[in-house]
Amino acid sequence: MTWQFGQVTTDYETIYRKTAHALGSPSKEIVQFFRSYEKNHARVLDIGCGQGRDAHFVGRLGHRVTGVDLPRSGIRNLLKDAASEELQIDARVADIRTYHPEFGVDILLLDRTLHMLTDAERSAVLGRLLSCINVESFVLIVDERRNIAQLQSIFDASLHNWRAILKNRGLLFLSGACKTFAAVSIDINPAEASRALVQLGPRTIALFESCE
Ligand SMILES: C[S@@+](CC[C@H](N)C(=O)[O-])C[C@H]1O[C@@H](n2cnc3c(N)ncnc32)[C@H](O)[C@@H]1O
Repeated sequence: MTWQFGQVTTDYETIYRKTAHALGSPSKEIVQFFRSYEKNHARVLDIGCGQGRDAHFVGRLGHRVTGVDLPRSGIRNLLKDAASEELQIDARVADIRTYHPEFGVDILLLDRTLHMLTDAERSAVLGRLLSCINVESFVLIVDERRNIAQLQSIFDASLHNWRAILKNRGLLFLSGACKTFAAVSIDINPAEASRALVQLGPRTIALFESCE
């Protein structure tokens, strides 16, 4: 699959097949975040993982990473390198426009991937992924500077309490805590509750029910 940006077409399948580690090393902001992150064995979802420049770094810190991307060559490289170091990394060929994780995510990583989608796809993908996020979680986005306002508005409308911990040019890093706990502790009327549940993902609904 190739992607068209203005006049430029990017064929990641060929890039990843021809060049090992084509995208270089993780950025300093990603490195700094993970070096200061305290939880052990976190579940990290790397959306549009490429050849795994972030996934390998994160896996080496002892976290469990799942990577998702379309080019088979990238996923193949990623898994081969991970196996040689015995890292806990699982990666699959899937389209992020339809992919739905089957586990709760502690850290959602979207490193220069969302700009490859249309505005509508970006909203839908991020909205779906946010429904799979754990109660205490982080989302790390690196993207085109012009997309950051749209992305921020998705977090503002979310039922999680999101707080930007880094917002700088094309970077948007947020920490989140689930607002659901607040909802169950107040007297919420049934119509309001069902409206809220429709907006929540299945995982959060289960959490809501288990807290009642
Ligand atoms: C600029 S690269 C970044 C790769 C990686 N995140 C990194 O920083 O090294 C963008 C990646 O997004 C992937 N991508 C774009 N649209 C996708 C889609 N619909 N489904 C899966 N992957 C997609 C591309 O295949 C490519 O590997």
